[in-house]
Amino acid sequence: MNQKQRQQVQATVLENRQLCREHYRLVLGVADFAQTEPGQFIQVSCRPVEREDEISDDLQWDQQGRPEVCGEELAGRMALLRRPFSLAGRKQTADGVELHLIHRVVGVGTQWLSDLAVGERVGVLGPLGNRFELPRPDGMAILVGGGVGIPPMLYLAQRLAGRKAVAFCGALTRDLLPMTLLEGGTAGRVDAVEPLLNVEEFSRHGIPAVISTDDGSFGFRGFVTQALERYLDANAQAMAEAAIYTCGPEGMMKRVAEVAASRGIECQVAVERAMACGMGTCQSCVIRVRKPDPAVPPMAGKDWCYRLACTDGPVFKGSDLLW
Ligand SMILES: Cc1cc2nc3c(=O)[nH]c(=O)nc-3n(C[C@H](O)[C@H](O)[C@H](O)COP(=O)(O)OP(=O)(O)OC[C@H]3O[C@@H](n4cnc5c(N)ncnc54)[C@H](O)[C@@H]3O)c2cc1C
Ligand code: FES
Repeated sequence: MNQKQRQQVQATVLENRQLCREHYRLVLGVADFAQTEPGQFIQVSCRPVEREDEISDDLQWDQQGRPEVCGEELAGRMALLRRPFSLAGRKQTADGVELHLIHRVVGVGTQWLSDLAVGERVGVLGPLGNRFELPRPDGMAILVGGGVGIPPMLYLAQRLAGRKAVAFCGALTRDLLPMTLLEGGTAGRVDAVEPLLNVEEFSRHGIPAVISTDDGSFGFRGFVTQALERYLDANAQAMAEAAIYTCGPEGMMKRVAEVAASRGIECQVAVERAMACGMGTCQSCVIRVRKPDPAVPPMAGKDWCYRLACTDGPVFKGSDLLW
């Protein structure tokens, strides 16, 4: 990624719609935006744009000074730092570029985002991070998303339109699935892993999906990793050139990486470690990865080293990660 392409812009809210119990679809419009790729993310300033300058003032740290972080920030009523969100899609329109996000309300920043009205403005920094490597031309792409890890899978699906792909998405329950589910699409069986064109966001790109819920309220009853394993077992012949892409809770991604490794399938993992700056400055997002040659720095003598999830990632090879 060419860092010069990173931009800080004010976007206009074009849509902010509740998708399910805790998730919102947020569409941001900008006149122009650097090229973006599936797997990349943006940092969103979750405070009024007229108060955005306070962030950079607060964070102008020098050796003599101290940041002015006080009052409202310490009371926790307003997000001081920008919040990272994966791109869930991108669209070029006559008016400019739409950046699509799906966010789950978990705290002060996402609560603020959920209250945004159409026409309001939001500060955006990006694009950030690396990207998913697309599969070989004839290779099957297997997309595995869990919870807030589903959004980057939607952008990847957009890029894979017309290619061999299947999506697996999991959530605790139907009401936490941030997607447009088409009725009658589960074949009424809680043990079925047959991919169906029953999720609008994937089917519009010709990609069938397997949905799992822990409680069986939609699709396969169980973990998305169990659905994946069952599908791979039944389709072992078709997996020679396959690549698995995953994003979601770390426990889920770890299991997906193990399942892929045990079958010799390439696996790319997008990690969502908590991030402060999102661009390689604060070192808050370190992650341990394997190092092929222990003699080579950094961390000479060790067979692992730290990488930054924000700039070296968020996408890593599943086989490289030390969870
Ligand atoms: C690269 C990347 C991409 C992301 N993409 C998405 C996305 O597409 N959609 C989405 O809804 N969220 C996504 N997230 C997570 C999102 O950034 C956090 O949920 C958000 O920052 C929470 O902000 P808040 O102010 O609402 O919550 P806070 O008030 O900051 O925190 C609320 C609670 O959530 C926990 N929390 C905050 N961030 C994380 C995190 N990254 N991992 C685990 N727990 C966390 C906090 O510890 C706290 O318990 C992504 C994170 C990263 C690093
Ligand atoms: S988030 Fe600051 S270095 Fe990664």
